[in-house]
Amino acid sequence: MKLARPDVFHPRIVLAGCPALPEGDGDDAGLVRALRDHGLHACWMSWDDPAALQADLVILRATWDYIDRLDEFLAWTTRVPRLLNPPQVVAWNIDKRYLSDLSAVGVPVVPSAFFAPGEQVRVPVGEIVVKPAVGAGSVGALRFSDSSKALAHAGMLQRRGQTVLVQPYDPRVGDGETAMVFIRGEQSHAFTKGPMLPPPGGAPVFDESGTYAEEQLQPAEPDFELWDLGHAAIAAAAAHLDVSTTDLLYARVDVLGGHDSPRLLELELVEPSLGWRQLDESIRRRQQRRFALAVGSALRGFGLGPLSHRRP
Ligand SMILES: Nc1ncnc2c1ncn2[C@@H]1O[C@H](COP(=O)(O)OP(=O)(O)O)[C@@H](O)[C@H]1O
Ligand SMILES: [Mg+2]
Repeated sequence: MKLARPDVFHPRIVLAGCPALPEGDGDDAGLVRALRDHGLHACWMSWDDPAALQADLVILRATWDYIDRLDEFLAWTTRVPRLLNPPQVVAWNIDKRYLSDLSAVGVPVVPSAFFAPGEQVRVPVGEIVVKPAVGAGSVGALRFSDSSKALAHAGMLQRRGQTVLVQPYDPRVGDGETAMVFIRGEQSHAFTKGPMLPPPGGAPVFDESGTYAEEQLQPAEPDFELWDLGHAAIAAAAAHLDVSTTDLLYARVDVLGGHDSPRLLELELVEPSLGWRQLDESIRRRQQRRFALAVGSALRGFGLGPLSHRRP
């Protein structure tokens, strides 16, 4: 990059992917440009590239292989000089047991029961979903109407050392799951995701990288009741973690159901896809500019503003 003003500090920013997708899946393609337009130089690399540890700031994006490398990934998050979202946020949010913390303070959550390896799994009557507590991209998530098959899948996950999450199947997913994106705690944009899990007996179809099931996304304008649930979930998470909502560069709140009784399916603070491709170009540019401004604010918060390294 040409440095027009050598006295101005240019932090090295890394957008982190994974070995199968070192530059993400394409959804974030406009971010490098948006950051550059704001005077910020960013490049993509896989999170496990040693050069990522030399960056001034690493922004988690498509780090979707951490499921199989959890200890290594969590250790890395604490070694990176500066990480967004912050490592303690990642450590809490990477395991869906965080849903219990949010439910405990009144956030309406899809009913969730957790069973650690060795614990006796109990399944409610009716159709259910069994999935790993640490998971992304629908990996390991299946629908069941036969409880013995559900218990067999749960047992298989537990034998792999995974805590199991059992939920009733919420048929409202048929109308789409609403994903609401927040930047620094403020409402940005939203999209819907079609149902991911085929009926019992079937398994989702995965992308060729194997890191996520293929998704049917559409732009959306959720009712304010859903945005309110999003704000409540983020505020509860920030309070639980003793951080400010502005410390969360990005957050995605995934909700099932409409305005009458929406329920939180996931609060994604680690590496959510932000669905930029669902936006019209002018809106996408505007919101990505907001993202870039938020990165600039975060850098100033870290003491890495443009004039932070100027010598007297
Ligand atoms: N309780 C549920 N009821 C209906 N569909 C569900 C339920 N849990 C998961 N799903 C479906 O499975 C997908 C993946 O589950 P999710 O909890 O989002 O985990 P992750 O995205 O971390 O793999 C969801 O997008 C949704 O389509
Ligand atoms: Mg999900």
